[in-house]
Amino acid sequence: MRLNNLIFIAGLGFFMISFFIVGILPWIQGADLKPAPYLTDYNEIESLGRKIYIREVCWHCHTQFVRPVGGESERYGPVSSINEYVYDKPQLFGTRRIGPDLAREGGKRTDGWHTAHLKNPQALVSASVMPKYTWLTDEEVKALTAYLQKLGTGIGDWRAARAAEAAPKEEEKGVDKAPVAVSAELLAKGKQVYQQLCVGCHGPNGDGKGPVAAALTPKPADFTDDEWKQGGTDREVFNTITRGVPGTAMPPFGAQLSEGDRRGLVFYVKSFSEK
Ligand code: HEC
Ligand code: HEC
Repeated sequence: MRLNNLIFIAGLGFFMISFFIVGILPWIQGADLKPAPYLTDYNEIESLGRKIYIREVCWHCHTQFVRPVGGESERYGPVSSINEYVYDKPQLFGTRRIGPDLAREGGKRTDGWHTAHLKNPQALVSASVMPKYTWLTDEEVKALTAYLQKLGTGIGDWRAARAAEAAPKEEEKGVDKAPVAVSAELLAKGKQVYQQLCVGCHGPNGDGKGPVAAALTPKPADFTDDEWKQGGTDREVFNTITRGVPGTAMPPFGAQLSEGDRRGLVFYVKSFSEK
Protein backbone atom coordinates (compact mmCIF):
# COMPACT_ATOMS: atom_id res chain seq x y z
CA MET A 1 0.00 0.00 0.00
CA ARG A 2 1.22 3.49 -0.76
CA LEU A 3 2.11 5.56 2.30
CA ASN A 4 -0.39 8.24 1.34
CA ASN A 5 -3.26 5.74 1.37
CA LEU A 6 -2.16 4.37 4.71
CA ILE A 7 -2.15 7.82 6.29
CA PHE A 8 -5.55 8.55 4.77
CA ILE A 9 -7.13 5.35 6.11
CA ALA A 10 -5.53 5.77 9.56
CA GLY A 11 -6.79 9.36 9.71
CA LEU A 12 -10.28 8.38 8.69
CA GLY A 13 -10.32 5.56 11.25
CA PHE A 14 -9.18 7.92 13.99
CA PHE A 15 -11.88 10.41 13.06
CA MET A 16 -14.59 7.73 13.04
CA ILE A 17 -13.60 6.29 16.42
CA SER A 18 -13.49 9.76 18.00
CA PHE A 19 -16.82 10.69 16.47
CA PHE A 20 -18.36 7.53 17.87
CA ILE A 21 -16.95 8.03 21.38
CA VAL A 22 -17.71 11.73 21.86
CA GLY A 23 -20.66 12.10 19.47
CA ILE A 24 -22.71 8.93 19.11
CA LEU A 25 -22.09 7.15 22.43
CA PRO A 26 -23.29 9.97 24.74
CA TRP A 27 -26.32 10.37 22.49
CA ILE A 28 -27.23 6.69 22.93
CA GLN A 29 -26.53 6.80 26.68
CA GLY A 30 -28.52 9.99 27.13
CA ALA A 31 -31.61 8.76 25.29
CA ASP A 32 -33.31 7.36 28.38
CA LEU A 33 -31.60 9.60 30.93
CA LYS A 34 -33.82 10.50 33.88
CA PRO A 35 -33.21 13.55 36.07
CA ALA A 36 -31.55 12.77 39.42
CA PRO A 37 -34.46 11.95 41.78
CA TYR A 38 -33.72 14.94 44.03
CA LEU A 39 -33.46 17.37 41.14
CA THR A 40 -36.07 20.07 40.54
CA ASP A 41 -36.28 22.45 37.59
CA TYR A 42 -35.29 26.11 38.04
CA ASN A 43 -38.12 28.36 39.17
CA GLU A 44 -38.80 31.72 37.55
CA ILE A 45 -36.31 33.80 39.51
CA GLU A 46 -33.58 31.11 39.32
CA SER A 47 -34.08 30.89 35.53
CA LEU A 48 -33.66 34.64 35.29
CA GLY A 49 -30.45 34.33 37.34
CA ARG A 50 -29.22 31.65 34.97
CA LYS A 51 -29.82 33.95 32.00
CA ILE A 52 -27.81 36.69 33.70
CA TYR A 53 -25.03 34.17 34.47
CA ILE A 54 -24.89 33.41 30.72
CA ARG A 55 -25.19 37.06 29.67
CA GLU A 56 -22.36 38.17 32.00
CA VAL A 57 -20.16 35.25 30.85
CA CYS A 58 -19.51 34.04 34.38
CA TRP A 59 -18.80 30.67 32.72
CA HIS A 60 -15.63 32.14 31.28
CA CYS A 61 -14.00 31.87 34.71
CA HIS A 62 -16.15 29.32 36.54
CA THR A 63 -16.81 25.66 35.84
CA GLN A 64 -19.83 23.71 37.07
CA PHE A 65 -18.54 20.20 37.31
CA VAL A 66 -16.95 18.47 40.31
CA ARG A 67 -14.59 15.96 38.71
CA PRO A 68 -13.86 12.53 40.19
CA VAL A 69 -10.15 13.33 40.56
CA GLY A 70 -7.56 14.81 42.85
CA GLY A 71 -9.46 15.49 46.07
CA GLU A 72 -11.91 17.75 44.24
CA SER A 73 -14.83 16.40 46.17
CA GLU A 74 -13.10 17.40 49.41
CA ARG A 75 -12.94 20.95 48.21
CA TYR A 76 -16.27 21.25 46.40
CA GLY A 77 -18.58 18.45 47.58
CA PRO A 78 -19.95 15.23 46.03
CA VAL A 79 -18.74 14.50 42.49
CA SER A 80 -21.18 15.67 39.79
CA SER A 81 -23.27 13.06 38.04
CA ILE A 82 -24.59 13.05 34.49
CA ASN A 83 -28.26 13.19 35.49
CA GLU A 84 -27.84 16.46 37.38
CA TYR A 85 -27.69 18.51 34.18
CA VAL A 86 -31.03 17.58 32.66
CA TYR A 87 -32.50 21.06 33.13
CA ASP A 88 -29.33 22.85 32.00
CA LYS A 89 -29.93 23.87 28.39
CA PRO A 90 -27.31 24.80 27.46
CA GLN A 91 -25.08 23.17 30.07
CA LEU A 92 -22.64 25.51 31.78
CA PHE A 93 -19.72 23.16 32.44
CA GLY A 94 -17.38 25.99 31.50
CA THR A 95 -13.93 25.42 30.11
CA ARG A 96 -11.41 26.61 32.65
CA ARG A 97 -11.20 27.61 36.28
CA ILE A 98 -9.97 31.08 36.93
CA GLY A 99 -12.34 31.15 39.89
CA PRO A 100 -13.55 28.14 41.90
CA ASP A 101 -16.00 25.53 40.61
CA LEU A 102 -19.60 26.51 41.33
CA ALA A 103 -21.38 23.17 40.78
CA ARG A 104 -22.19 22.88 44.51
CA GLU A 105 -22.18 26.54 45.46
CA GLY A 106 -25.77 26.42 46.82
CA GLY A 107 -25.88 26.80 50.61
CA LYS A 108 -22.16 27.50 50.97
CA ARG A 109 -22.57 31.24 51.51
CA THR A 110 -25.39 33.49 52.70
CA ASP A 111 -27.42 35.62 50.26
CA GLY A 112 -25.84 38.70 51.83
CA TRP A 113 -22.35 37.38 51.07
CA HIS A 114 -23.26 36.90 47.37
CA THR A 115 -24.87 40.34 47.17
CA ALA A 116 -21.74 41.97 48.59
CA HIS A 117 -19.35 39.79 46.56
CA LEU A 118 -21.02 40.35 43.18
CA LYS A 119 -20.80 44.14 43.59
CA ASN A 120 -17.29 44.16 45.06
CA PRO A 121 -15.34 40.86 45.13
CA GLN A 122 -12.11 42.63 46.18
CA ALA A 123 -13.72 43.85 49.41
CA LEU A 124 -13.95 40.19 50.45
CA VAL A 125 -10.92 38.66 48.75
CA SER A 126 -8.42 41.44 48.14
CA ALA A 127 -6.51 39.56 45.41
CA SER A 128 -9.63 38.48 43.47
CA VAL A 129 -9.59 39.04 39.69
CA MET A 130 -13.37 38.77 39.47
CA PRO A 131 -14.89 41.94 37.98
CA LYS A 132 -17.10 44.24 40.08
CA TYR A 133 -20.59 43.76 38.65
CA THR A 134 -21.63 47.28 39.56
CA TRP A 135 -24.04 47.57 36.64
CA LEU A 136 -26.35 44.78 37.84
CA THR A 137 -29.68 46.05 39.22
CA ASP A 138 -30.87 44.90 42.66
CA GLU A 139 -33.38 42.68 40.87
CA GLU A 140 -30.61 41.04 38.84
CA VAL A 141 -28.38 40.53 41.88
CA LYS A 142 -31.30 38.87 43.65
CA ALA A 143 -31.96 36.54 40.71
CA LEU A 144 -28.28 35.66 40.28
CA THR A 145 -28.01 34.92 44.01
CA ALA A 146 -31.10 32.69 43.88
CA TYR A 147 -29.51 30.82 40.99
CA LEU A 148 -26.17 30.39 42.79
CA GLN A 149 -27.99 29.16 45.92
CA LYS A 150 -29.76 26.51 43.84
CA LEU A 151 -26.62 25.04 42.28
CA GLY A 152 -25.88 21.45 43.33
CA THR A 153 -28.49 21.33 46.07
CA GLY A 154 -31.04 18.62 46.74
CA ILE A 155 -28.45 15.86 46.96
CA GLY A 156 -28.77 15.83 50.76
CA ASP A 157 -27.22 17.89 53.52
CA TRP A 158 -23.64 16.76 52.91
CA ARG A 159 -22.30 20.13 54.04
CA ALA A 160 -23.82 19.80 57.53
CA ALA A 161 -22.60 16.20 57.76
CA ARG A 162 -19.06 17.25 56.89
CA ALA A 163 -19.17 20.18 59.32
CA ALA A 164 -20.30 17.84 62.09
CA GLU A 165 -17.46 15.48 61.26
CA ALA A 166 -14.92 18.32 61.44
CA ALA A 167 -16.42 19.94 64.56
CA PRO A 168 -13.97 20.48 67.42
CA LYS A 169 -13.69 17.50 69.72
CA GLU A 170 -14.20 18.03 73.45
CA GLU A 171 -10.47 18.43 74.10
CA GLU A 172 -10.21 21.03 71.33
CA LYS A 173 -12.81 23.36 72.82
CA GLY A 174 -12.34 26.06 75.45
CA VAL A 175 -8.86 26.86 76.61
CA ASP A 176 -5.61 25.86 74.93
CA LYS A 177 -3.70 23.36 77.02
CA ALA A 178 -0.37 24.66 75.77
CA PRO A 179 -1.21 28.28 74.89
CA VAL A 180 0.69 29.91 72.05
CA ALA A 181 2.37 33.13 73.19
CA VAL A 182 1.61 36.32 71.31
CA SER A 183 4.64 37.61 69.40
CA ALA A 184 5.28 40.64 67.20
CA GLU A 185 5.76 38.28 64.29
CA LEU A 186 2.39 36.53 64.75
CA LEU A 187 0.62 39.87 65.18
CA ALA A 188 2.14 41.23 61.97
CA LYS A 189 1.11 38.09 60.10
CA GLY A 190 -2.40 38.40 61.53
CA LYS A 191 -2.65 42.01 60.46
CA GLN A 192 -1.54 41.19 56.93
CA VAL A 193 -4.09 38.39 56.47
CA TYR A 194 -6.79 40.49 58.15
CA GLN A 195 -6.32 43.18 55.53
CA GLN A 196 -6.62 40.64 52.72
CA LEU A 197 -9.64 38.68 53.91
CA CYS A 198 -11.42 40.33 56.84
CA VAL A 199 -11.49 44.14 56.43
CA GLY A 200 -14.37 44.10 53.92
CA CYS A 201 -16.71 42.93 56.67
CA HIS A 202 -15.09 43.66 60.03
CA GLY A 203 -13.58 47.01 58.96
CA PRO A 204 -10.03 48.36 59.25
CA ASN A 205 -10.67 49.33 62.89
CA GLY A 206 -12.31 46.03 63.80
CA ASP A 207 -15.62 47.71 64.60
CA GLY A 208 -17.67 45.54 62.20
CA LYS A 209 -18.30 48.45 59.82
CA GLY A 210 -16.44 47.28 56.72
CA PRO A 211 -17.53 48.45 53.25
CA VAL A 212 -19.79 45.45 52.58
CA ALA A 213 -21.28 45.16 56.09
CA ALA A 214 -24.48 46.94 54.99
CA ALA A 215 -25.48 43.97 52.80
CA LEU A 216 -25.20 41.47 55.66
CA THR A 217 -27.58 40.22 58.39
CA PRO A 218 -26.45 39.57 61.05
CA LYS A 219 -23.82 42.27 60.87
CA PRO A 220 -20.13 41.32 61.18
CA ALA A 221 -18.83 41.10 64.74
CA ASP A 222 -17.45 44.23 66.39
CA PHE A 223 -14.07 43.34 67.94
CA THR A 224 -13.68 46.58 69.89
CA ASP A 225 -16.11 45.71 72.69
CA ASP A 226 -14.44 42.55 74.03
CA GLU A 227 -17.74 40.63 73.81
CA TRP A 228 -17.40 37.26 72.13
CA LYS A 229 -20.60 35.48 71.07
CA GLN A 230 -18.65 32.38 70.11
CA GLY A 231 -16.40 32.48 73.17
CA GLY A 232 -13.34 34.64 73.71
CA THR A 233 -10.52 32.30 74.74
CA ASP A 234 -7.70 32.03 72.22
CA ARG A 235 -8.84 28.50 71.43
CA GLU A 236 -12.47 29.53 70.90
CA VAL A 237 -11.61 32.45 68.62
CA PHE A 238 -9.26 30.12 66.72
CA ASN A 239 -12.12 27.62 66.30
CA THR A 240 -14.46 30.38 65.05
CA ILE A 241 -11.96 31.48 62.42
CA THR A 242 -11.33 27.86 61.42
CA ARG A 243 -14.99 26.83 61.11
CA GLY A 244 -16.88 30.09 60.50
CA VAL A 245 -20.25 30.90 62.05
CA PRO A 246 -22.94 28.79 60.29
CA GLY A 247 -26.02 30.74 59.26
CA THR A 248 -24.06 34.00 58.98
CA ALA A 249 -21.77 35.41 56.29
CA MET A 250 -18.70 34.50 58.39
CA PRO A 251 -16.89 31.93 56.21
CA PRO A 252 -14.74 29.05 57.47
CA PHE A 253 -11.03 29.71 56.86
CA GLY A 254 -9.69 26.34 58.02
CA ALA A 255 -8.98 25.00 54.54
CA GLN A 256 -7.63 28.28 53.20
CA LEU A 257 -5.27 29.53 55.93
CA SER A 258 -2.40 27.84 57.73
CA GLU A 259 -2.58 27.28 61.46
CA GLY A 260 0.04 30.01 61.93
CA ASP A 261 -2.04 32.53 59.98
CA ARG A 262 -5.12 31.69 62.06
CA ARG A 263 -3.10 32.02 65.28
CA GLY A 264 -1.91 35.42 64.14
CA LEU A 265 -5.49 36.45 63.37
CA VAL A 266 -6.62 35.46 66.88
CA PHE A 267 -4.11 37.85 68.43
CA TYR A 268 -4.79 40.56 65.89
CA VAL A 269 -8.61 40.58 66.29
CA LYS A 270 -8.18 40.50 70.08
CA SER A 271 -5.85 43.49 69.92
CA PHE A 272 -8.77 45.74 68.80
CA SER A 273 -10.36 45.61 72.26
CA GLU A 274 -7.09 46.30 74.04
CA LYS A 275 -6.77 49.78 72.61
C1 HEC B 1 -12.30 37.07 35.39
C2 HEC B 1 -12.77 35.86 35.98
C3 HEC B 1 -14.09 35.85 36.72
C4 HEC B 1 -15.34 36.17 36.23
C5 HEC B 1 -15.71 36.71 34.85
C6 HEC B 1 -16.27 35.85 37.28
N1 HEC B 1 -15.61 35.37 38.37
FE1 HEC B 1 -16.46 34.71 40.08
N2 HEC B 1 -14.62 34.38 40.88
C7 HEC B 1 -13.43 34.59 40.24
C8 HEC B 1 -12.33 34.35 41.18
C9 HEC B 1 -10.84 34.48 40.88
C10 HEC B 1 -12.92 34.00 42.41
C11 HEC B 1 -12.19 33.65 43.73
C12 HEC B 1 -11.94 34.91 44.56
C13 HEC B 1 -13.22 35.53 45.04
O1 HEC B 1 -13.93 34.93 45.85
O2 HEC B 1 -13.55 36.65 44.59
C14 HEC B 1 -14.36 34.02 42.18
C15 HEC B 1 -15.29 33.67 43.14
C16 HEC B 1 -16.64 33.56 42.91
C17 HEC B 1 -17.60 33.03 43.87
C18 HEC B 1 -17.28 32.52 45.25
C19 HEC B 1 -17.14 31.04 45.28
C20 HEC B 1 -16.91 30.57 46.70
O3 HEC B 1 -17.89 30.16 47.35
O4 HEC B 1 -15.79 30.68 47.18
C21 HEC B 1 -18.83 33.12 43.27
C22 HEC B 1 -20.16 32.69 43.87
C23 HEC B 1 -18.64 33.69 41.96
N3 HEC B 1 -17.31 33.94 41.77
C24 HEC B 1 -19.67 33.95 41.07
C25 HEC B 1 -19.49 34.61 39.86
C26 HEC B 1 -20.57 35.07 39.02
C27 HEC B 1 -22.04 34.87 39.32
C28 HEC B 1 -20.01 35.69 37.95
C29 HEC B 1 -20.69 36.39 36.81
C30 HEC B 1 -21.63 37.45 37.16
C31 HEC B 1 -18.56 35.57 38.10
N4 HEC B 1 -18.30 34.94 39.27
C32 HEC B 1 -17.64 36.04 37.18
C33 HEC B 1 -13.27 34.94 38.92
C34 HEC B 1 -14.27 35.36 38.08
C1 HEC C 1 -18.39 38.17 54.57
C2 HEC C 1 -18.17 38.87 55.80
C3 HEC C 1 -17.13 38.36 56.77
C4 HEC C 1 -15.81 38.10 56.51
C5 HEC C 1 -15.07 38.17 55.19
C6 HEC C 1 -15.23 37.74 57.78
N1 HEC C 1 -16.18 37.76 58.75
FE1 HEC C 1 -15.91 37.29 60.71
N2 HEC C 1 -17.90 37.49 61.04
C7 HEC C 1 -18.83 37.90 60.10
C8 HEC C 1 -20.15 37.78 60.67
C9 HEC C 1 -21.44 38.10 59.95
C10 HEC C 1 -19.99 37.28 61.99
C11 HEC C 1 -21.07 36.83 62.95
C12 HEC C 1 -21.67 37.91 63.77
C13 HEC C 1 -22.73 37.31 64.67
O1 HEC C 1 -22.66 36.12 65.03
O2 HEC C 1 -23.61 38.07 65.00
C14 HEC C 1 -18.56 37.13 62.20
C15 HEC C 1 -17.99 36.69 63.38
C16 HEC C 1 -16.62 36.57 63.59
C17 HEC C 1 -16.02 36.17 64.84
C18 HEC C 1 -16.76 35.79 66.11
C19 HEC C 1 -16.92 36.99 67.02
C20 HEC C 1 -17.64 36.62 68.29
O3 HEC C 1 -18.39 37.50 68.77
O4 HEC C 1 -17.48 35.52 68.81
C21 HEC C 1 -14.66 36.20 64.66
C22 HEC C 1 -13.60 35.86 65.67
C23 HEC C 1 -14.43 36.59 63.28
N3 HEC C 1 -15.64 36.83 62.65
C24 HEC C 1 -13.18 36.71 62.71
C25 HEC C 1 -12.96 36.93 61.34
C26 HEC C 1 -11.66 36.90 60.71
C27 HEC C 1 -10.35 36.70 61.44
C28 HEC C 1 -11.87 37.07 59.38
C29 HEC C 1 -10.85 37.08 58.27
C30 HEC C 1 -9.95 35.93 58.18
C31 HEC C 1 -13.30 37.23 59.19
N4 HEC C 1 -13.92 37.14 60.39
C32 HEC C 1 -13.90 37.44 57.94
C33 HEC C 1 -18.57 38.29 58.82
C34 HEC C 1 -17.35 38.14 58.17
